[in-house]
Parts: sequence; structure tokens; C-alpha cells
Amino acid sequence: DANSILPQIGDTLVYLTGGTKDEVIDPADIKVGEPPKLAYPMDPKTKEVRNGSRLNLLLVARLPADDVEKDTESLAADEIVAYSAVCTHNGCVISDINETEHEFVCNCHGSTFDAGNRGAIVEGPATRRLAILPLKEGAGELTVAADFIGRLGPPR
Ligand code: FES
Repeated sequence: DANSILPQIGDTLVYLTGGTKDEVIDPADIKVGEPPKLAYPMDPKTKEVRNGSRLNLLLVARLPADDVEKDTESLAADEIVAYSAVCTHNGCVISDINETEHEFVCNCHGSTFDAGNRGAIVEGPATRRLAILPLKEGAGELTVAADFIGRLGPPR
């Protein structure tokens, strides 16, 4: 199915939560310190949202510029980053960012990941970083720049 294949280069990100569902995310609407948006990639030509696999669920957030390390910066659109939203511990959907404004927290068992540092583990029980989806900023949208880097989801 076209809607369950992984994000493709050139796909546009659309909201699942945090904005109008299936609407294109305008980077200007993503602010530092807000809860991360849950998003899916969409084929810009057919407008098909690739929501057929939960491994396509994305966490999208804008980070404080000072907290974005060099090798993450090149994968971000300005300071907006996209990561796999599926926790690498046991597969819960991650939905929170903590008071640092750059660490994602999984509410199931508290795993914490540094979104400014390629999704590195800050705190377990997860033992593997989050996969990052490289972005570039288009005109009023966020575009997938390359395939996911890293393995998706919990260990199988
Ligand atoms: Fe996320 Fe356990 S599933 S911490």
C-alpha cells in the first residue's frame, strides 16, 4: 500500500495532532517549548497521507537554537526536527517534551531522548536512540530530505 511505505524524499509533513489533522504543517506555526506535534508524511502529488504504518508516526518540534548540535543541525529545517515517535523501549507513542525544551519523554516508562543530539538516550529504560528523519524547509512546509537514520521502533 502506498500509505504504509516509509517516508519518501520530497514528502510533506502533515498533522496528526497539535494542528488540523492531515493539514500541511507550516513551520512558522511550530514554536520552541510547545509539546511536540505528531505528524505523518504525505505524498505531495497524490495527497495520500502515509498513515498505514505506525512506524511512520513522527514527532516534530522546534528546538532552542543553542541546544541543536552540529550533526543534528544538518538534519533539521532551521531548528525543527522530526523523529520516529515510536519509543525504542517498548513501542509506546512518545508525545512529550520536558522543561529543557529539547528532550522528548516517553510517558510509559520515562525514557528520555535528546532531540538536539540525534535522539541520543538521556535516560532509560530505552537503550537505543530514536531514528531521525532528515528535513528541509520548503515554502511554508516541511519536506523529507532523506530516509530515516537509525532503526525504527522497539527491538523485535
Ligand atoms: Fe517508552 Fe517504555 S515504551 S519508555
